[in-house]
Amino acid sequence: MIILGLNCFHGDASAAVFRDGEMIAAAEEERFNRFKHSGGFPSNAIRWCLYQAGIDVRDIDYVAIPRKSSAHIFRKLIWAARLPVASTARFKALKNFTSLKEQLALCFGLKANEIKADFKFVEHHLAHMASSFYTSDHQNAAVVSIDGMGDHASMVWGVGEGKKLIVKDHVYFPHSLGFLYTAITQYLGMRAYGDEYKTMGLASYGKPKYEDIFQKIAQIGNSIDFKLDLSYFIHHSKGIDMTFEEGEPYIGTMFSDKLVKTFGPPREPGSPVNSHHKDIASSLQKRTETIVLELLRRVKYSSGQQNLCYAGGVAFNCVLNGRILGETGFDDLYIQPAAGDAGLAIGASLFVYHHILGNPRKFVMKHSYWGPEYSNDQIKEELDDAGLRFSTKDGSHLSDHIASKLAEGKIVAWYQGKAEWGPRALGNRSILADPRNENMKEVLNQKIKNREMFRPFAPSVLKEKAQEWFEGKTDSPFMLITYNAKKEKIKYMPAPIHVDGSARIQTVDQSTNPLYWNLIKQFENQTGVPALINTSFNESEPIVDTPKQALETFTRTNMDVLVMGNYVIE
Ligand SMILES: [Fe+2]
Repeated sequence: MIILGLNCFHGDASAAVFRDGEMIAAAEEERFNRFKHSGGFPSNAIRWCLYQAGIDVRDIDYVAIPRKSSAHIFRKLIWAARLPVASTARFKALKNFTSLKEQLALCFGLKANEIKADFKFVEHHLAHMASSFYTSDHQNAAVVSIDGMGDHASMVWGVGEGKKLIVKDHVYFPHSLGFLYTAITQYLGMRAYGDEYKTMGLASYGKPKYEDIFQKIAQIGNSIDFKLDLSYFIHHSKGIDMTFEEGEPYIGTMFSDKLVKTFGPPREPGSPVNSHHKDIASSLQKRTETIVLELLRRVKYSSGQQNLCYAGGVAFNCVLNGRILGETGFDDLYIQPAAGDAGLAIGASLFVYHHILGNPRKFVMKHSYWGPEYSNDQIKEELDDAGLRFSTKDGSHLSDHIASKLAEGKIVAWYQGKAEWGPRALGNRSILADPRNENMKEVLNQKIKNREMFRPFAPSVLKEKAQEWFEGKTDSPFMLITYNAKKEKIKYMPAPIHVDGSARIQTVDQSTNPLYWNLIKQFENQTGVPALINTSFNESEPIVDTPKQALETFTRTNMDVLVMGNYVIE
């Protein structure tokens, strides 16, 4: 049975293909069309996934779409009647849904009637929840999804039991922790779609001075729910101006004049960040943590479950995630790498396969390497075309050589194997550097990233060594959880430790990425430190996909070494 999952006409458009419940390939459209968080129809991602799986589009049994217009239809209609005319882009996006079959056929130069697949529509949050539960190794878990909004809800929780996912309750629009975070991120002058993670980074530099105000802005309810004081927002009264066309998505202003009266004029994009901005970010982060942790405690109590499977855009808040196990009573926390809307493609597929069709569970997502891969021959062709000098190294010679370059303080672009699924580079499309050098953050920013100084860089750590260096359970294969570094260790690894003593670590498992594990192991042999700084291989663009893009980014920036497959360019 072949299922194609699509997140389309929404941010982070993506595709994933499953054969008999096993994931074969998954990719985000932004890697192909080079627009960050690209919306629209993921034609390139679909073509690549089917090519990778060796499947003809006419042989697909089901196409799973993470959106259900009939879900919560009365609430949707009531709000639609209250709001002014919705943006034309939004209408366009809805219209596009009627021609999905044509769009899919068009990707392959076919007619709609040649596609025999049955189209199944899965409610947005059910797809988020399914993306986590059905890729985890848990047969029983509490399952929670929190984001901006999808199918009129902003939070849904339930229980996963084997093949079934049972929804217990919703929090509906306009109350949304995701929109709260987006609105304040906009107020802080960070206007690009998906900029919320910058606010999280900034929060560590401030004090939660405005916690009392945020307590008014976002209140916990009596049940597993919360409310926003809507006078601080306009998304409920003026509608949300959202564009999910092919390019980067756009979201119009969501905060009201009352927020401006409360905190003063919003920060102009590009203007200096001052302590007032840091304190607002800190207060927002603190309030978000307080609310989500309390809701998760209540979910734990109500569900009686030991394991938590978590998804939705808010599940990218790795600082909050770092507190979940210690403060909610859950024994295990699982978040798959594409916790945001890209992950809906896999969630919708698995919901159809298990919950709707009743097929047994067998797939567990042990790694994030589900994207495109290029052979050594293809890489060499690019290098020859570019006329660059290179050397060839393999096995322990490669890891030994590159580890010594890193130990010398060189910055290495490391391009290997299959691309990562989700927004984090996890050792296959990564820029690597020495974590021992306190100034490495500045060096990286000068040479490549040119990004805000308040944003931390994160470390990849050998899985078996993580507990020696960090506090807590330290299992974080997908770099989505923050842990505190052990105080006595910070001086040996200062660069990727954030100002508050924490780090968003990736624990690297020898069995899932032996090449990357070996490189870090060699670095440990040479320096005594079992970690490297790992940041995504890009420069203000989606993570590089092809060898050509890797070369372009390498030559445009001031990195020292590029490793692609067995080829080393210095
Ligand atoms: Fe979502």
